[in-house]
Amino acid sequence: MTSADRKVLVDLGSRSYDIVIGQDVLTDMGRYLDPIIGQGRVHVVTDETVYDLYKDRLYTMERDIGLTVLPSGESQKSFPTLQTVLDNMFEQGLDRADTLLAFGGGVIGDLTGFAASTFKRGCKFVQVPTTLLAQVDSSVGGKTAINVKQGKNLVGAFYQPSLVLTDTSVLSTLPERELKAGYAEILKYGLLGNLDFFNWLEANGNDVLALEPNAVAEAIAVSCMMKAVIVAEDEQERGRRALLNLGHTFGHALEAEAGYSGDLLHGEAVSAGMQMAFEFSASQGLVSREAAEKVAGHLKAKSMKTLADVKSLLGDTDALMRHMSQDKKNEAGKLTFILARAIGEAFVQKDTPADKVREYLQTLI
Ligand code: NAD
Ligand code: GLY
Repeated sequence: MTSADRKVLVDLGSRSYDIVIGQDVLTDMGRYLDPIIGQGRVHVVTDETVYDLYKDRLYTMERDIGLTVLPSGESQKSFPTLQTVLDNMFEQGLDRADTLLAFGGGVIGDLTGFAASTFKRGCKFVQVPTTLLAQVDSSVGGKTAINVKQGKNLVGAFYQPSLVLTDTSVLSTLPERELKAGYAEILKYGLLGNLDFFNWLEANGNDVLALEPNAVAEAIAVSCMMKAVIVAEDEQERGRRALLNLGHTFGHALEAEAGYSGDLLHGEAVSAGMQMAFEFSASQGLVSREAAEKVAGHLKAKSMKTLADVKSLLGDTDALMRHMSQDKKNEAGKLTFILARAIGEAFVQKDTPADKVREYLQTLI
């Protein structure tokens, strides 16, 4: 750690770990990873884009590394790819004391974490997230998964890494759409539980999106701190962790309507979905119209995806309702939504009346 690096603890007793955030922490990866890998071996899972851009960083470890380089994209969160990763680990002769390192965005992190959880019933695992979304959300908290024909992220495990090593400098090569998708998850933390952070984003969000080093490091650190607190309280999402799903119930339905295509990224769906969650809350008299308008105004000011951008996905209310009826948060066939009482004050509403959701969706057509 240099004095400029930030460190956030995810406090889970004997499974606690640090998130180290800094500019250029990957120029000396060994310094951070040696204490974890020790005398063991390491296998890196990455995608072609990240490998082409940043393979030199991996060799700063000065170790023999096993390597799986996958095509980029969501389709890699699959059983066949999981098998490929495990095959490569067996071929390298790894055992449980060895380390699997995820070097990429959320796709690589989710897949690699799941591989780590299953390899000989669990080997060491490190996250090196390279997208903004992965740095503020998916690399933290231990949700790992692959997709199956029945749906996204439906086969997986809660499996925590031993370290998250976050280098903000790699964000400079991230396409703008991916950057904004990550910003949506940052905004989510302000909206769900931290009015001060939302106000900070109102003032500094443009600097974050411009990757001004201090602003981006601050936004990542606050996001990770908020996620760390929630995960420490409710690791396996029995209650409070569901707050991290703000905007996701509507968002997942939009993603499903877009066919999980590149036309709508997850973070873009969450962006419009958060606007919908606030508007729906306002329609139920839970939050003020002004607050809902302020959220929409923030999205517009930062050129994020809003309801206006997803109009073409809102035409089939029955289909949207069907997608939402399959949400993992639902219990006993009843809808669960994350709604808001104010900016910075979200809550979990179990048994949300389906007819009210349907009514709201119909106002959008
Ligand atoms: P991703 O991993 O597909 O990365 C997006 C694109 O950016 C890819 O093409 C990738 O090759 C490229 N890329 C990665 N780093 C780059 C860099 N530094 N420079 C240039 N290009 C780079 O997508 P994502 O948005 O990071 O993650 C989405 C996934 O995360 C989804 O599968 C979602 O389900 C999952 N997710 C998981 C959690 C969790 O808690 N586990 C939370 C949110 C999302
Ligand atoms: N991204 C939601 C969670 O980690 O719970």
